Amino acid sequence: MNEAQIIDGKAIARRIRERVALEVENLKQKNGLTPSLTVILVGEDPASQIYVKSKEKQANEVGMISDTIRLKADITEKNLLKLINELNSDISVNGILLQLPLPEHIDEGKVIFAIDPLKDVDGFHLVNIGRLWTGTKASIPCTPSGCLQLLKETLGDLTGKRALILGRSNIVGKPMAALLLNENCTVTIAHSSTIDLADRCRESDILIAAVGRPQMILGDWIKPGSTVIDVGINRIDASLNEKNIDGKPAKQLVGDVNFEEAKLVAGHISPVPGGVGPMTIANLLRNTVIAACWQMGIDEPNL
Ligand code: GUN
Repeated sequence: MNEAQIIDGKAIARRIRERVALEVENLKQKNGLTPSLTVILVGEDPASQIYVKSKEKQANEVGMISDTIRLKADITEKNLLKLINELNSDISVNGILLQLPLPEHIDEGKVIFAIDPLKDVDGFHLVNIGRLWTGTKASIPCTPSGCLQLLKETLGDLTGKRALILGRSNIVGKPMAALLLNENCTVTIAHSSTIDLADRCRESDILIAAVGRPQMILGDWIKPGSTVIDVGINRIDASLNEKNIDGKPAKQLVGDVNFEEAKLVAGHISPVPGGVGPMTIANLLRNTVIAACWQMGIDEPNL
């Protein structure tokens, strides 16, 4: 049996970063502008700390200015809003990223709404959500943007494809639906109350899995020859006898799709790791360059 072709997110993300680096150099030379990204990290969430370090490193690698503001978990909402206002009016800051999740005492919606939509490189502001859904120029959330790029690299034109998105989060599922609708797909969003989920999956030319449940999607849920994009990042115990150097049981990174089963049925599949993961930060850098151009009144580059 033919196995699915593996979608190489690492290589596609690298090409985006290379284009971004060229554009950063171009903006420096022609406009005297070095795009800059400021990341706000509240508290000590270990996963967030790793993400933020990676963002900082990759922003520097493409030649941008990157700054991370680390705040104590007990910062008041008022002081966080004050900081955002200061960054909004600072012309040396092109992109503002507020790392989520926030501590519970802070109203996430309220602080995201305080970010200048032109500096909202996550595309989480209501203005950008509205722009995306109306097919207007918008800052687009980085992970769904990455999924769409993987699909277009793999399939070209998506017109008429039946797409199923598993998961309805504001960060992935909902913006993904808008993006695929804009590409003329017929879009379904499935969620925890969806009936006959496996049947809905089997009808789909494109399956986007973003539910956060390790290896939930099985091989016989997948339409033969279809394209599967796995957004899940789940850490599970590795096989029983595998141990780390410190003697603790080893962990293994898996997606929401049972990859070993799915690759025997799908036409194309994105792996975990090495699929969607690297696309997210590449698009954050891309969004930052585009934001810098909007703020300077420069034509948006084709990245
Ligand atoms: N936390 C997990 N994913 C994301 C993301 O894409 N953006 C932000 N700001 N926080 C996150």
